[in-house]
Amino acid sequence: MALLDTIGEERAAVLARIEAAAGTAALEQVRVEVLGKKGSLTALLRGMGQVAPEQRGEVGRAVNRLRDEVEAALAVRREALAAAELEARISSEALDITLPGRARPVGTQHLISRLTEEIVEVFRGIGYQVASGTEVETGYYNFTALNTPPDHPSRGLQDTFYVRDRSGERAAIDGESDVVLRTQTSGVQVHVMEERTPPIYILAPGRVYRRDVADPTHLPQFTQIEGLVVDRGITFGDLKGTLEYFCRQVFGPERTVRFRPHFFPFTEPSAEMDVSCGICGGAGCRSCGNTGWLEILGCGMVDPNVYGFVGIDPQEYSGFAFGLGVERIACLKYNVPDLRMLLEGDMRFLRQF
Ligand code: DAH
Repeated sequence: MALLDTIGEERAAVLARIEAAAGTAALEQVRVEVLGKKGSLTALLRGMGQVAPEQRGEVGRAVNRLRDEVEAALAVRREALAAAELEARISSEALDITLPGRARPVGTQHLISRLTEEIVEVFRGIGYQVASGTEVETGYYNFTALNTPPDHPSRGLQDTFYVRDRSGERAAIDGESDVVLRTQTSGVQVHVMEERTPPIYILAPGRVYRRDVADPTHLPQFTQIEGLVVDRGITFGDLKGTLEYFCRQVFGPERTVRFRPHFFPFTEPSAEMDVSCGICGGAGCRSCGNTGWLEILGCGMVDPNVYGFVGIDPQEYSGFAFGLGVERIACLKYNVPDLRMLLEGDMRFLRQF
């Protein structure tokens, strides 16, 4: 029967084309050409009308079988081709994990920030709170209320940055035309004493500014930490014990301290505190100028005149204050020879700490 032969030929041809399809797109093309509206197998099915009635059953079954067979073959081949294509994509798009990645440099706290926190923690451990002030300050808080008279040399243009407004005139805050970049954190003392009543145990870290040219021992901008205690019955002995404790916490238990009389307008009596040189152990060497001591801070008992500005009764309360430079302490603790290295941001230097 010619028709059954045609179906047999069609079967062989279609199965061969399915097997030969090189990709899912080519396979889809085969499917359309065979089973689509104008497909070869579809034409065979349509042609059933012309088949003699007594042959229709047999031919119909043969065509239907062929269609089922073709559909199954398409499905099997499609799955195989899709898997191969996925495999090819995975290997062609694979990341080369042996390439070194792009390193992101990880930053860390600057030595000065870390040391500031370390010092703050020492005092927090003995009950101090942190207070803060602003870097732009009035002459009243930076000088006047700290018992520093108008003609004091530190108030001069050579020593202090004065702030001007946009028009170039002296800036004014609250009617005061003396607006400065604070030269010391001591002004925070005044704000705190105005705002709180004793007992006061505070520490005030912050940046200060002076009209200095940067050299190995001076910076125009540096970090200070101010301390203030006001309470009943505070003596110079409390000051000494507190600062000696602080010093040993920061520099190590083997270090000793000494106090030398000094003058500050806002404390009376005043002193400077030295710590024994860590390099020679106090015997004297180049680092300590052969004295065996390194000066690290200023301190004293709060001057009664300062209490007068903030309305605290010196008959009832007494207290002490101190101020230290963090950059200087960093240099002494880590033997940094030049303060400017702390500002340069050279990672080879900073990474050492
Ligand atoms: N403000 C002083 C300075 O910048 C440091 C200082 C000395 C602060 C004695 C104090 C103090 O509170 O009592 O040099």
